Order: sequence, then structure tokens, then C-alpha cells
Amino acid sequence: MIVPGSSSQALASTLATELNEPLAEVTYDRFPDGETLAAVPEFGGDRAIIVATTDTNDTWVELLQLQDAVTEAGATEVITVIPYMGYTRQDRAFKSGHPVSARAMARAISPTTDRVVLINPHEQSVADFFDGHVTICDAAPHLAESLPSGLSEPLFIAPDSSAVELATAVRDTYGTGSTDYFEKTRHSGTDVEMITSDTDVSNRDVVVVDDIIATGVTMSTAVSHLNDGGAARVYIGCIHPLLARGARTKLERAGIEQVIGTDTIEQEVSVVSVAPTVATAINAVDVEMR
Ligand code: R5P
Repeated sequence: MIVPGSSSQALASTLATELNEPLAEVTYDRFPDGETLAAVPEFGGDRAIIVATTDTNDTWVELLQLQDAVTEAGATEVITVIPYMGYTRQDRAFKSGHPVSARAMARAISPTTDRVVLINPHEQSVADFFDGHVTICDAAPHLAESLPSGLSEPLFIAPDSSAVELATAVRDTYGTGSTDYFEKTRHSGTDVEMITSDTDVSNRDVVVVDDIIATGVTMSTAVSHLNDGGAARVYIGCIHPLLARGARTKLERAGIEQVIGTDTIEQEVSVVSVAPTVATAINAVDVEMR
């Protein structure tokens, strides 16, 4: 049975179709004191595939509750799909006294799951924080599916060097174009500095690709540089469209053609589904484990 977290209801439904598995009814309630209660009233079968993006503290707690609920209801195998795993950017103690939040979260959910599936976590090394089998899926190639054909001299560019592999994956699927990246220095949560390369972007269609849009500062700074350089149209592709703190408006004001996001976080811009990629990963590990 596919068991959806409250933030991943559309993706869970698409995955249920992909895997030809029933979709469980889940209730999401809140007590007067603010505590959440996620429940699976009629869980049936042996295997539970929980699909739960953990973009808020509440959805983290919900995930723990869903894992416990299906185990209590008799599930003999629990697969936890975390389309967007919150707290992964705190993957080390950046200052004395800080927690490694990603590790704390992984430790919390590991005892109640047999396998974990992640999609483009901020750092792949987050997989090491879990006890069991972890599969990491790359959804970047699918971002190319929503781009229009016939882009003019397309350039696929990453806002920093760490995302250039994502930009390259999108270019490879699109089939044509060059790749590049900015040199980015982050001064604060709201201030990033970017140095452009020598690439001439005038009259070219540009696709900026990153793993996540949080506040939108990174992407809007990149877009402004590209428009200043005379780019024809600027598209944005991201795996996780978190779009916090007015990010959508920042992007529009910077001058974009379209934002293409996946459904790891369900937003209006989530035009690409990661369900086929997740289904393939689950089926592949099934074969591997037989
Ligand atoms: C940073 O390394 C990430 O890849 C993203 O570029 C970053 O998290 C985006 O954050 P924001 O949208 O707040 O600039």
C-alpha cells in the first residue's frame, strides 16, 4: 500500500498508479495543543510505501507517526520515500555547539523503516546517516521534459559549481546546448554574490538549474545577471521548489520565462513528476534484494 504524508498526496497518488499499488486512506488531525495525529485507519497488506516530504517540523512528526502506524497495523516491510528531506542543508555542525540536523532526523526514522528512497538530497553523503538501505534518485533529467523544443543556442547554467552536474543532466536529456556555472559566494541568507563566466548569453535561451529554490535569492541573482547580459529567455529548473519567503515574486521580478519544478514539493510550478523515477528505484531494489 502507498501511504501518503500530507505534503505528498499528489505524488503518492501518481506513484500508486505507477506501481499499481492501492493508495491508503490517511487522516491528518491536530489536537487543541497543536500536536499532530496522522493515522492509517485501514492499512492492509504486508508492504507499506510511505511517501512523505518533510519540509516542516509537523511533516517530520507525521512521518514518524505514519511509520509507527503501519508497523502497528502489521506491515512487515516499510519503505520510506522522502521526496524532499528537510534539514539536509544542516549536514554538518557549522559552528561549535550546532547539531548535525540531517543526522538527527535520519537517526529518528531509521529504526522503523527497512529502506529509504531520497531524491536529489542536497549532499549525497546524507545517505550515510541512515542505518538501512538508501537509494538516491536523480530527477534532474526529467526537468528537460517541460522545456519547449527549439530553444535558441541553449545554455544550461548552474548558479554554483556544485550544481553543474544537474545542469549537464538536463542538457543531456534536452539533447543540445552548452553548460556553464557561476562562481557563487553566499554572504548571508539573503545576500549572494555571483561572478559570471565569459560566456556570451546575448540573444540565447538560458536554463538555470539548481537542486532547490528556497528564498529565491540564488536564482533571482543569476537571472538578473543573465538578463543584464542580454539573454533572450531565461527558464528555471529545480528539483525542489520550496519557494519560501516570496521567492516566486523575486523570480518574476528578475525576469523569467517559466519555473519548472518537480513534485517533491507540491507547488503550482511542479510540472514534472518524480514518480516514474521512484517507481524504477523501488522495483530495481526489489529485484536486487530477491
Ligand atoms: C545551495 O547550495 C543550494 O544548492 C541552493 O542554491 C540554495 O539552497 C538556494 O537557496 P536560496 O533560494 O535561498 O538562495
